[in-house]
Amino acid sequence: MTAQADMRVVNLRKRFGRREVLRGISIDFAPGAITVVLGPSGCGKSVMLKHLVGLLRPDRGEVWFGSTRIDTLAERELGMVRRQIGFLFQQSALFDSLTVRENIAFPLREHGMMDDAIIDSKVRRVLDLVALEETIDQMPSELSGGQRKRVALARAVVLEPRVVLYDEPTTGLDPIRSEVINQLILKLSDSLGITSIVVTHDLMSAYRIADHMVLLHEGQVALEGTPRTFEQTTDPIARQFLRGELGADELARIRGNGDDAPPQRGSDQP
Ligand SMILES: Nc1ncnc2c1ncn2[C@@H]1O[C@H](COP(=O)(O)OP(=O)(O)OP(=O)(O)O)[C@@H](O)[C@H]1O
Ligand SMILES: [Mg+2]
Repeated sequence: MTAQADMRVVNLRKRFGRREVLRGISIDFAPGAITVVLGPSGCGKSVMLKHLVGLLRPDRGEVWFGSTRIDTLAERELGMVRRQIGFLFQQSALFDSLTVRENIAFPLREHGMMDDAIIDSKVRRVLDLVALEETIDQMPSELSGGQRKRVALARAVVLEPRVVLYDEPTTGLDPIRSEVINQLILKLSDSLGITSIVVTHDLMSAYRIADHMVLLHEGQVALEGTPRTFEQTTDPIARQFLRGELGADELARIRGNGDDAPPQRGSDQP
């Protein structure tokens, strides 16, 4: 296999109970590139990501890692694939009772690495990448939210994965801390040649880092293209999302009754 990996979902469908969350999604995640998947809260971004590591199985459709179809793999075979994919979870919880060092060493030990000297050098290498070497013996509770994200990021890449999945890496961070994470994603992508898949509703961050952008809406791909495509789109659904506007039906729902006519949308736009 080559150093870089592409991932692909083909006509992915997933329902929970009566709600069909993914309604036939196809996306190519190009090798070595940063693909950002955008969409409103609850549109199925995290659900889509979980399919990429086999944490969820599709009802219909396919998931590919390079030339391996993974949605049909047995749990044991999935382990081999997961080892090559770093996952920064939305709730990037570190283990509270473990030091930064042991948090980052955890995936290494879990994959059977025993040699303390090698573990130590790998831990230091990724901590250096996120510029947090001095925190190595601290506890997570002693770190800021932004620092904890960076430690989680270090942990996500310690196995030297070919693909890294980021679920809302900048959510909850102030603009400066967000920019630190953006720069780290760019740096990891460059220096390790990683294929990056970033799920977010942080538009600023998306424009900063994306080679390719995908907008999900009601379980389908509403728009796909370069950041420039997104800036120039005239697609009404995409523009509504990009401007942070509510649809008339959503406004009426929030106001609690239907007889209150929503204001003219766009009236306060430049
Ligand atoms: N394991 C599950 N069982 C049942 N429903 C689920 C499960 N996982 C997700 N859902 C539902 O699927 C929908 C999409 O969830 P998902 O977490 O993918 O949203 P999201 O786009 O990541 O939102 P956010 O931006 O808020 O993180 C939600 O309605 C959620 O309640
Ligand atoms: Mg989510």
